[in-house]
Amino acid sequence: MLFHSTPKKMAQRIKFKLNGNSVGVEIKEDEPLLDVLRSSLNKTGTKFGCGLGYCGSCTVLINGKAARSCMTTADFVEGKEVVTIEGLASENDLHPIQQAFIDNDAFQCGFCTPGMIMTAAGFLNENPAPSRQEIIDGMEENLCRCGTHGRIIKSIQEASEVMKQDVKL
Ligand code: FES
Ligand code: FES
Repeated sequence: MLFHSTPKKMAQRIKFKLNGNSVGVEIKEDEPLLDVLRSSLNKTGTKFGCGLGYCGSCTVLINGKAARSCMTTADFVEGKEVVTIEGLASENDLHPIQQAFIDNDAFQCGFCTPGMIMTAAGFLNENPAPSRQEIIDGMEENLCRCGTHGRIIKSIQEASEVMKQDVKL
């Protein structure tokens, strides 16, 4: 019997929109988007926590939906729009979710915060007027070791009120 080895994929160049700008970058085979963002594109606001899809600290928006960049291969975002925490604020103002986190002291060490905020942004894109319980359910899989969940939920409630007047991301 003749066995064929699986053909090896070569390094490739991908193009996508990152925080509103077109970027082109060389990626390795199966390279996680998280590594490309942090190491090749210097977007270090996106955090490496577990690397296994459990904690949510690496969350970004892909075409407006929250996604775990540690579990997304970079080639998946070819031609898509990616937003990281660095791209959330407008030129003059913080995003309402960012502002609400500050107003409510919704972080201590801050390591989980970018992922929390990006998850909340994706969640509010899909459900702009959530109940408190819907927010709790929507944020359930993002972990905060400092235990600020109560203030995080309050922040997202406040931000949803402000965002009712705003446009979607
Ligand atoms: Fe991606 Fe934890 S680093 S989910
Ligand atoms: Fe420290 Fe959440 S603020 S892990």
